[in-house]
Amino acid sequence: MSPPVGQPPPGNSPSRTANPLGTAAAREKAAPPRQTAAVKGPVTTIEGLGTLDKLHPLQRAFIEEQACQCGYCGNGMVMSAKALLERNPAPTASQIRQALNGHLCRCASHNRIVRAVQRAAKEMRS
Ligand code: FES
Repeated sequence: MSPPVGQPPPGNSPSRTANPLGTAAAREKAAPPRQTAAVKGPVTTIEGLGTLDKLHPLQRAFIEEQACQCGYCGNGMVMSAKALLERNPAPTASQIRQALNGHLCRCASHNRIVRAVQRAAKEMRS
């Protein structure tokens, strides 16, 4: 007999069910909270970066380099890359990797992402 929907199978209580993300305590220990900076001025989200008719160079470069496989990490990568290019219009690959280090691409598109940021940086400098 199957367990009711949402219930673990017999002998597999919720406390014994593996949680791939671990317990809250384990997550806090593994990834301590980051300090946040006070925001002054306008906040731009991915929706405010470009339009369908006029994509931001980073958005266009991510598409052209096929840097987003599933797209899960794309918004964060693009916005962090934008912040990097505002500080440093000609970053090296190493500087790009360091700036995007807080993001994890589960599709392993990191090399494509670095190429996309370099491509956008070149276009934005010209
Ligand atoms: S493209 Fe899938 S997580 Fe980065």
